[in-house]
Amino acid sequence: MTHYLFIRLRAYVLTLVAACFCCSLATAQSIIPQPQQMTRGEGQFALTETTIVYHAPELKELAAYLRDIVEPSTGLTLQLKATTAEQFLRLKDKKHNGIGLFLSNDLKAEGYTLNVTPQQALIKGADAAGAFYGVQSLLQLLPAEIMDSHLHKRMTEQGAWTLPAVDVKDAPQRPWRGLMLDVARYFHDLRYLRHYIDCMAHYKLNRLQLHLIDDSGWRLEIKKYPRLTQEGAWAGTEGERLGGYYTQEEMRELIKYAALRGVEIVPEVEFPAHVMSAVVAYPWLSCTGEQQVLQTRHSISPELLCVGKQTTLDFLRDVLDEVCDLFPCRYVNIGGDEAKYKRWEACPNCQALMQREGLKKASELQGWLTNKVARMLKEKGRTAVGWQEIVERGKVDEPVVATVWSGAMGDSTKIKDMGHKVLLSPNAYLYLDFPERVVEGEVPAATWRGPISLEKLYGMPCEDYSADGACIGIQACMWSDLFIHGKGLPELRPLNENRSEAYIDYLTYPRLLAVSEVAWCKKADRSWERFTGALGKHFARLDALDVHYRVPEPVVKEEDGRVTLSSPVEGAEIRYTLDGTMPHEHSTLYTAPFTLKEGQKVRAITVASPGHFSLPQNSEK
Ligand code: ACM
Ligand code: ZN
Repeated sequence: MTHYLFIRLRAYVLTLVAACFCCSLATAQSIIPQPQQMTRGEGQFALTETTIVYHAPELKELAAYLRDIVEPSTGLTLQLKATTAEQFLRLKDKKHNGIGLFLSNDLKAEGYTLNVTPQQALIKGADAAGAFYGVQSLLQLLPAEIMDSHLHKRMTEQGAWTLPAVDVKDAPQRPWRGLMLDVARYFHDLRYLRHYIDCMAHYKLNRLQLHLIDDSGWRLEIKKYPRLTQEGAWAGTEGERLGGYYTQEEMRELIKYAALRGVEIVPEVEFPAHVMSAVVAYPWLSCTGEQQVLQTRHSISPELLCVGKQTTLDFLRDVLDEVCDLFPCRYVNIGGDEAKYKRWEACPNCQALMQREGLKKASELQGWLTNKVARMLKEKGRTAVGWQEIVERGKVDEPVVATVWSGAMGDSTKIKDMGHKVLLSPNAYLYLDFPERVVEGEVPAATWRGPISLEKLYGMPCEDYSADGACIGIQACMWSDLFIHGKGLPELRPLNENRSEAYIDYLTYPRLLAVSEVAWCKKADRSWERFTGALGKHFARLDALDVHYRVPEPVVKEEDGRVTLSSPVEGAEIRYTLDGTMPHEHSTLYTAPFTLKEGQKVRAITVASPGHFSLPQNSEK
């Protein structure tokens, strides 16, 4: 038996034991994000060989999605049948075991109900997204291994796949529940993007902003400007080219993949700064027109797109035309952060434009450009969203969405007063490129401000959504500049491998689960105690999803020399040393509290699965 299968079996048996003795009450309470309302019913529903998924004709793809998750893990065969909710409910009398997926007019956008009895599991969604979230809650009520596509039918003989009878009524508090992934600094392949989307969707996040353009790479094919990807997507020399890009065809497929999972991909077309990759391809885009070289190390270029040339505006219109043809989303992100205006101050074309427009400072040209581009997008029925600088550099009349990422969160009020909407991505809470803790052995991560613990993120202040308020939601950001093009990522003990994707997973999880709950729930409904209680069960789920999460350190409690160890990861082992050496997965297994002898010091790790363990937690003394 492989280690891999061993850990799966262990987790599975644990889940089944828990299901038998605790009657799934804990399972029902462990849905993340916490549903708005949930009550426990009598008995449980079991997936069996004869379970049928009945669905509204419009939800055929969702039914197939559910089947494609359930079949590989359980080894069951699920039949799909199109029908109506009324007919499905009539089947109840015949004691037919079925899952029903339907739509309902009287629910809030993206909301759903889930009613599980021993005979039926009925999901009604306000829309396709709502029905999808109902399915995610149903999956979270089943054993975690339901998400494990490697499991196959090996486990089916050992126990039933059951979920507790429940009544859930749920809807998100915020319309924008996002994640930004920086694919410009490091080119993540499509396989990884699908994995990222799958996990986001499982936790009911609905927007993935792809940071497609930066100094280090242009990652989206633009047919009218082929050099953007022929030249701008690649750094390094012949034979050791680093980078990559998505063709429009590939992106179209990804958009479809994400849409089925309730995730809208929001493209970020960054300008006027962070555009070295465009300038390398077409030097006439910059103020100086000089040929540049793409860097292999992280740097922020002083080059800007030259706003004073008509050719630049034509370029932006052409690029946005293709972007809008490709991406069906209502919002298009136009970047806008961190411009330094030296180039515009020295450029005769930019200076002439300032004179014509009566602008006093070069920075005001950015506001002028934002207005122009926001109008271009409006003509196409889209709304511009960008970093907060888009409304802070001169007057912008066209309503936009400003992403607050730095400064005080009070910036939101100012932005609202200017007539714009706000998306919250404060770097103090939602920049996942900061480490969770600064402890011995932690992976290198951003250091320009303090760490962001799970608890800190969970406690992020943000007002509840209201239609006439400013804030439309929150978005966590996963920047990749620390391992630009995969260079500079050494062998790291907590990663146990050298893939950049493992590093991204490590920084993203488990914090993404806190993002999910902050985004979905009303502020008053957040409970750190409930969340951490539920979280313990989700590590097995993350294992099943193949997520390389950061394993939390054990909790070491010492009272009068007596040591108690516990792990936030349900079912995990704790291993420890007492002689000051670094514990590893074969160190002494913790089984019960013990007493320290003179000179001994506890160093303990959580071992979630073979090769996947935490950093050491030391006793105080
Ligand atoms: C940013 O972090 N420069 C948006
Ligand atoms: Zn210029």
